[in-house]
Amino acid sequence: MAISTAPAPGQVTTARPSIIVLLQEVQEKYGYLPREEVVRCAREAGISVAQAYGVASFYNLFKLTKPGKYTIRICQGTACHVQGGQGVLERLMSELKIQPGETTADGLFSLEIVACLGACSMSPTMVIGDQVYGRVTTKEIPRILNRYRRKG
Ligand code: FES
Repeated sequence: MAISTAPAPGQVTTARPSIIVLLQEVQEKYGYLPREEVVRCAREAGISVAQAYGVASFYNLFKLTKPGKYTIRICQGTACHVQGGQGVLERLMSELKIQPGETTADGLFSLEIVACLGACSMSPTMVIGDQVYGRVTTKEIPRILNRYRRKG
């Protein structure tokens, strides 16, 4: 015999919102998950803060740290890798003094690795904000970064 967990018509339920839905709303609003919002979401969902962080850290769509003003997405897909994308990534890490997933101390840049930007014919490729950079060379990196540093 099947047991129904659905509430009967007119029955008052104590159903709590899904922690994933709550965290998604916060991620959309802030671009990351501020601690006080994670605490609030945990309370609303009826789970512990540690459980909420467990969910947040499991899904890589959730960011636990505030992103930089400019997010650099560097492609490490096959086409970009073959065309020297690893060297471009290493130059970015060296210039910014951060690893992928981190933000510079001045809060200006975040660095992310992506699998393909859909611009393989221009590999190696990276995107800063909404600006696409194709056939990027390691020598160009300082000049490109300085452009954003001057803008602040
Ligand atoms: S593999 Fe880099 S843009 Fe497609």
